[in-house]
Amino acid sequence: MRKPIIAGNWKMNMTPSETVKLIRELKPLVEGTNTEVVVCPMAVSLFAAKEALAGSNIRLGAQNVYFEDAGAYTGEWNCDSLLELGVEYVIIGHSERRQYFNESDETVNKKVHKALQKGLKPIVCVGEQLEQKQKGVTAEVVRMQTKLALEGVRASDIESIVIAYEPVWAIGTGMTATSAEANMTIREIRQAVRERYADAADVVRIQYGGSMNAKNAAELMAMSDIDGGLIGGASLKAEDFSKVVNY
Ligand code: 13P
Repeated sequence: MRKPIIAGNWKMNMTPSETVKLIRELKPLVEGTNTEVVVCPMAVSLFAAKEALAGSNIRLGAQNVYFEDAGAYTGEWNCDSLLELGVEYVIIGHSERRQYFNESDETVNKKVHKALQKGLKPIVCVGEQLEQKQKGVTAEVVRMQTKLALEGVRASDIESIVIAYEPVWAIGTGMTATSAEANMTIREIRQAVRERYADAADVVRIQYGGSMNAKNAAELMAMSDIDGGLIGGASLKAEDFSKVVNY
């Protein structure tokens, strides 16, 4: 019922010309898939990406957006520009944004609202830090982040939202949550959505992210509540990423 969605978060990698090269390599490798495939290049590579993606089944995503329409916000970019560049998805509240760029639950919520208002689909990231996991508060942390990110969102918009569960300790470390552990936490997230939105929670797609790769994708994707993946390192090589897509 929920269509699987695998997204590559290229983070601050791939210049515009490298972006074009990677997209050209990737296109034929994921052509026939039933999975929704998204690539999220750096903002400055989106224009090149749009052109390279013409005629392909791969959707375009951005890694961030600002919550105002326009104005004196040096260095930021708005939803309208992303839409003009053919962007369909936007990652909001990635843990690296929270850690290095002061992204808070409040700004995440504002960005979710603006994206939805403009017709972009948010990929909202939640996840506990290592210390929180060790203290046994993972469920509380992700439930709180989920509820605060979605605060005030209308039930009719809920199906446009993708949530990515990314345990911070698993990002770029080679350590993944076990598939059972990831599934359990994702069920907590879905439950938090259900408390506000009842049955709409069943249509929200929830991805796992954190050292997901060609080797562990099939096992993670086989879990009942894991609907996709948000892939960092393993999305930077066409062959590796295509193996995750074709898990
Ligand atoms: P890695 O796949 O490199 O662990 O990164 C995950 C991630 O942060 C995707 O957003």
